[in-house]
Amino acid sequence: MLRLKTTFDAGIYLEKKKSFVDYLQFCKSPVREAGDVMRKALITGVTGQDGSYLAELLLEKGYEVWGLMRRSSSFHTGRIDHIYKDPHEHPRLRLVYGDLTDGSNLSSVINEIQPDEVYNLGAQSHVRVSFDIPIFTVNTDGLGTLRLLEAIRSSNRPVRFYQASSSEMYGKVVETPQTEKTPFHPRSPYGCAKVYAFWQTVNYREAYNLFACNGIMFNHESPRRGETFVTRKITRAAARIKLGLQDKLYLGNLDARRDWGFAGDYVEAMRLMLQQDEPDDYVIATGESHSVREFVEEVFGYLDLKWADYVEIDPRYFRPSEVDLLQGDASKAKRVLGWEAKVGFRELARMITDADMKIARREKIIEEQGA
Ligand code: NAP
Ligand code: GDD
Repeated sequence: MLRLKTTFDAGIYLEKKKSFVDYLQFCKSPVREAGDVMRKALITGVTGQDGSYLAELLLEKGYEVWGLMRRSSSFHTGRIDHIYKDPHEHPRLRLVYGDLTDGSNLSSVINEIQPDEVYNLGAQSHVRVSFDIPIFTVNTDGLGTLRLLEAIRSSNRPVRFYQASSSEMYGKVVETPQTEKTPFHPRSPYGCAKVYAFWQTVNYREAYNLFACNGIMFNHESPRRGETFVTRKITRAAARIKLGLQDKLYLGNLDARRDWGFAGDYVEAMRLMLQQDEPDDYVIATGESHSVREFVEEVFGYLDLKWADYVEIDPRYFRPSEVDLLQGDASKAKRVLGWEAKVGFRELARMITDADMKIARREKIIEEQGA
């Protein structure tokens, strides 16, 4: 018997150029028929950096994972292709089209999939870009969270909910390090939207007894980080400069300080939050803060380059209002969840640089072949 959701993943399956016969076979697979006994998770933002690491982690833990993905004219599944591939090989990862701006779609997805856990990672996550598209950012990151919470509440199912909250909410910080008790003072449309989503999550917990948690995540990076965030922008450029593919790197504020950790560590904290007896909010951070300049020095130094010869300041990368200093205190997460960051600043910078050197070497070969 065909079970479950053909209307949802058939479209995506067929777009991956599989035949409908293949798809029917996939629906009949033994894992699918045993699906009801597995824990089921829905991840919004599955195509993003964190979504891809979290999907990997949950698959490892034996979950059936559903990823909500936006329709786009070109495929943007690069970060999850290695775990999606052919559904015959990994039948526990499914994709479903959806969008946080579309509440009726979110309700259908929740009702059809009936997840045990929902991880809301979907967002317009670029702070600088949120000044350019504030309405879209707030619609997705703020109202999108409310739409999802409403879809869960009205499903009347005991769903556990994780909200990807952000250290950007602290904005103009009033104390350092920042804890779960530090007041918020957001400095961007993105930060304001995340504060709204944070409090809606708390309110659904208090008003409707929903098992809803906020992870107040400080910056976390990886080789899968989007290339316009400052870490990847620096490592990509340094690697390309090293191989003679690029001359300059243009940056904005080098004095801003961030508490940078590794995304692979941080998704473990997300899952742990939803396995506790009680829902709560947690700061997730390394506890160390470094400036953008220090990150530049670390990466260029690692590649034996003098950064000052290559880096120039371009005011277009300054923000209308900046967050100068973020440094988190994750002692509650350590005490309650047993979580702490494993990858430190230097190791992180080198890990991403190594990965970008591999990409730059491939680009160099292509350039030489084209010449
Ligand atoms: P990311 O790489 O930018 O991924 C964002 C994801 O959200 C992508 O899959 C994107 O899909 C999806 N998305 C965007 N708009 C959407 C919409 N309207 N409907 C549905 N999905 C949508 O971000 P990330 O670094 O993985 O971060 C994950 C979450 O954690 C975000 O909510 C972010 O704000 C939050 N956060 C991140 C950090 C950090 O340092 N990384 C720190 C604190 C909080 P497309 O692929 O289609 O664009
Ligand atoms: N992106 C970028 N590009 N940032 C630059 C540049 C540049 O050329 N030059 C300097 N910076 C500075 C920014 O002004 C900021 O102070 C710092 O580098 C970090 O910028 P991003 O890497 O873009 O990250 P973010 O801190 O603004 O936001 C990230 O972390 C938040 C958590 O605190 C994002 O991942 C958010 O989604 C996340 O919530």
